[in-house]
Amino acid sequence: MSEQVQLANQSTHSALNMVLDTAYQGIDAVNWKKLFASARQGHLEQFIADMFAGKHINNSEDRPALHSALRNLSKTPVMIDGKDVMPAVSEVWHRIDALCNKWIGVTDVIHIGIGGSDFGPRLAIEALAHVPGIESRGMRMHFLANIDTAELARILARAQAHSTRVIVVSKSFTTLETSMNAKAVVAWLKDSGCSASQVTDSLYAVTANLTAAKDFGVNENNIFPFWDWVGGRYSVWSAVGMPIALQYDFETFKQFLAGAEAMDLHFKNAPLEENLPVIMALALLHQQEKHDIKAYAAIPYADALDWFPKWLQQLDMESNGKSVDRDGKPVKHSSPVVFGSAGSNAQHSYFQLFHQGTEIIPIDFIAVLEPMSDRPEAVAHHRILLSNCLAQAQALANGKTAANPNDIYPGKRPSNLLLLPKLNAFYLGALLALYENRTATLGALWNINSFDQPGVEYGKVLAKPIEKALASHQKDITASADIDAVTAARINLLNSNN
Ligand code: F6P
Repeated sequence: MSEQVQLANQSTHSALNMVLDTAYQGIDAVNWKKLFASARQGHLEQFIADMFAGKHINNSEDRPALHSALRNLSKTPVMIDGKDVMPAVSEVWHRIDALCNKWIGVTDVIHIGIGGSDFGPRLAIEALAHVPGIESRGMRMHFLANIDTAELARILARAQAHSTRVIVVSKSFTTLETSMNAKAVVAWLKDSGCSASQVTDSLYAVTANLTAAKDFGVNENNIFPFWDWVGGRYSVWSAVGMPIALQYDFETFKQFLAGAEAMDLHFKNAPLEENLPVIMALALLHQQEKHDIKAYAAIPYADALDWFPKWLQQLDMESNGKSVDRDGKPVKHSSPVVFGSAGSNAQHSYFQLFHQGTEIIPIDFIAVLEPMSDRPEAVAHHRILLSNCLAQAQALANGKTAANPNDIYPGKRPSNLLLLPKLNAFYLGALLALYENRTATLGALWNINSFDQPGVEYGKVLAKPIEKALASHQKDITASADIDAVTAARINLLNSNN
């Protein structure tokens, strides 16, 4: 036992009062040394410097990945191709602050966006709703992402049209789900008796495509820009995250940015051996080499963070789910499947497989030191929550022998413990930035460009001829260049039932 405690001490790292404990990774000092040496050999330090310096690390799209500028509260100049972007970034901050003061008497906000234009703000609104001391300004914040009208119907049944504001959030402003949902909400405003000028006043946009937003009918003064050097899944720090300021207050949004900025400074300046995002990335690479892992899980033992794994799925899998490297050559490894949900609920779902399944799945256990409510039961419940978290990690690491094979736990199942001192806007920002920087580190070490997503486009292209075939109501569609025989038969099946 004493040996384990010692190992736990050696394997504990901290930044911004967050603690990362890698003791259950089972990586000895010699192997850690090799991992850091290989990171240096792979020019990781140069990559980190290039990323913050605005070099065009997104090589396929020939642009920087500078979401860090969006949380650079110190406003130190960030140059992109010779121009400081900070004046434009801080102008958006001022406009968000002003909007918070302007939106008095607003009952409902409908935030329309999908993927990176949805997950970040949705996660932040959910997470901060649980934080003692953070007050909601009273408006209902609705997130509308799915083209399935169930979500639309649920929101429109609750919202009060005359005191609703609509924010259409789309980097490209060409995403079909978002534009169709936006049209439906505008139609609902009109049908509910809002005049043309009321509709125009209610409509806002957050986008990198100002022309398309104007063409849609959004007043220029109501458009909040962001830029092509911000990837959609890295965009919550821009005006995409505006709901945080509107729902709580601008100071809360600023705290969120401040946590991320502090994590960026740590990532940029700490030696690799003390660098939390780097250590987490290297631990995963080690397990991938050793066990050929196919999946990895993030389990926050905090109900407030239930949306975190969904946000992380897009971040990791859209960034690093690729088969070729920056030079178009096949890669040996890329992102494993990422999944997770809040503990302890998750224990009663898929943890059986973690303990006794044939796959080894590295896990990040994320815990918060302070309870998330001030209910009288909070301390006792929180102790049980934390003991469950610790117990699962210990059982997975050490396993258990038994005479009956059914009762054997193989053990040696790797995990991290990430401990936040508390969950507030600052630590939420720090947590998200920690994982963003970990994702970028993994991409750099796999030599993958983590900032494009060519793979999501093909399915969208194919949806068009299929939608046309469905709209035709024909029951005798045959295979063609765009539609294969299986899909043609499925279209006929759907058309026969409609
Ligand atoms: O699903 C693909 C994707 O391009 C994501 O990368 C992005 O977050 C999402 O669609 C939404 O895109 P946009 O913000 O341009 O509407």
